[in-house]
Amino acid sequence: MNAPQKNAGSSSSKTFFLLAIIAGLGLSAALVNIGAPSGSVPSTTSDLAKAQRLQKVGSVTLKTVQKDRPLATGEEVYKAQCAACHAAGISGAPIFGNADAWGPRLGQGFEALVQSVLHGKGAMSAQSGGQFTDFEISRAVAYVANAGGGKFVDPQAPAAEEK
Ligand code: HEC
Repeated sequence: MNAPQKNAGSSSSKTFFLLAIIAGLGLSAALVNIGAPSGSVPSTTSDLAKAQRLQKVGSVTLKTVQKDRPLATGEEVYKAQCAACHAAGISGAPIFGNADAWGPRLGQGFEALVQSVLHGKGAMSAQSGGQFTDFEISRAVAYVANAGGGKFVDPQAPAAEEK
């Protein structure tokens, strides 16, 4: 009878010990939770104010970059959006700088080429609607066409487009 009692006693005191630890952890967690906000209300408030000020500065900066970013050159647009196909002639794309491939196409005129590119032609999907404006795409058309023997003028942004 002694042995089982001892066992029961020790196991229940173990349980109590565990409960005490759990309760202690819970209590100290609760204390930390309560303590943090009440102990640092002023600094939390000023941190919040700082964060809000920073956020304002950040979002203004972001808008400024998007709105007033410099106009991309034809070469920049070409490298970012056109070279993937035109550098190596993917899907039958006329290869950059290859006058034989470009010659027959240039005769249709700059506007027609721009329309092909903006709205798509054959295996070339419409190039309008991405990260560049249609105007910037037209500069890329001049860039590729001229590299292939064309004599087009690099389009300059009309005043209205620059605003
Ligand atoms: C998905 C691959 C692909 C991308 C990206 C691409 N092109 Fe093309 N491009 C082609 C193919 C293929 C053709 C030939 C289309 C045809 O004549 O059937 C072509 C044709 C052209 C032509 C001649 C159009 C005509 O009417 O003969 C021009 C100019 C041109 N691309 C410029 C561009 C420019 C500028 C860009 C980037 C803004 C661009 N391409 C992006 C595949 C591409």
